[in-house]
Amino acid sequence: MTIILGLESSCDETAAALVDSDRRVLAHRVAGQEAEHSPYGGVVPEIAARAHVDRLAPIVEGVLQDAGLTLADVDAIAATAGPGLIGGVMVGLVTGKALAHAANKPLIAVNHLEGHALSPRLVAPELQFPYLLLLVSGGHCQLLLVKGVGDYRRLATTIDDAAGEAFDKTAKLLGLGYPGGPAVERIAQQGDPRAVPLPRPLIGSAEPHFSFAGLKSAVARASVSGAHSVPDLAASFQQAVVDCLVDRSRIALTACPEATAFVVAGGVAANGAIRGALTELAARFDKPFVAPPLWLCTDNGAMIAWAGAERFAAGLTDPLSVAARPRWPLDPEAEAVRGAGVKA
Ligand code: KG4
Ligand code: ZN
Repeated sequence: MTIILGLESSCDETAAALVDSDRRVLAHRVAGQEAEHSPYGGVVPEIAARAHVDRLAPIVEGVLQDAGLTLADVDAIAATAGPGLIGGVMVGLVTGKALAHAANKPLIAVNHLEGHALSPRLVAPELQFPYLLLLVSGGHCQLLLVKGVGDYRRLATTIDDAAGEAFDKTAKLLGLGYPGGPAVERIAQQGDPRAVPLPRPLIGSAEPHFSFAGLKSAVARASVSGAHSVPDLAASFQQAVVDCLVDRSRIALTACPEATAFVVAGGVAANGAIRGALTELAARFDKPFVAPPLWLCTDNGAMIAWAGAERFAAGLTDPLSVAARPRWPLDPEAEAVRGAGVKA
């Protein structure tokens, strides 16, 4: 049995956790930065990096205290090394390096996306490779065949905005504030998902890629028309996202009969309407459906510690010279998508 300390600081959550190789979460703490960023309606990278500097050390001390452990009890230190806002990533990675050096423990540089991708295995021991993963977060929207630790085939990505980004931008233009996803979901519960006619970009296309920029613009136009209530706009937007995610995932499930299960992860996977629709889709394909609990969907330290545990078990550690990476695709072989922006 090994114990891994995981650090996460790639966006606006400062988080740490202690997880063991028997899938026990010994302690985890997350500090959000809503108060810092909400005046700007989105994450300000410099403010985020400074907040991580202030918070990470007390959070690390806190999880060690919560678990009744010291650094000497930890077998390895895993830190997010990218992709993400580079200032924040550097804070976490340098902290991880310092702790590893001081305590003479191995360092594991974790790809944040691999943290999300493997997080379902922390709570679902029966989940075997390969599985089909819909990874939906603030920065990414991808369908991946997860073949093993460090072994991914990207089937689809977004050609413009990520799913979470679409939620955040929609929330901003509807005046719902930041962070946007939970706010849209909350108000959508009072609206009619059929009230506002909105496009379903790329539905019907044979390639399983995503596009959300046009949807967001359509919400903006419907909003300024003044013809619809905010709850109806939010509910109709959310329904359009659900329909796109289901349609694109359906193509990927058809293309990957070898997948043992259909899995969703990332912050947007916390959305109840999305979880419900994907549960039904998996049942139609006779596949088990796995979605991590809500706290494990949004950014946290436990997913980084668990990805660290999986990598450590595979003998994968990193030198202290390892670099932080603003971009770091899970599947480096994936072809560039025509029209795709930098997030692909
Ligand atoms: O995975 P995550 O915590 O951070 C990134 O790696 O990006 O995902 C954050 C994204 C944000 O865009 C946020 O608005 C979205 O996840 N999100 C949601 C919900 N909770 C978080 N989107 C829709 N419904 C939710 N309940
Ligand atoms: Zn994330």
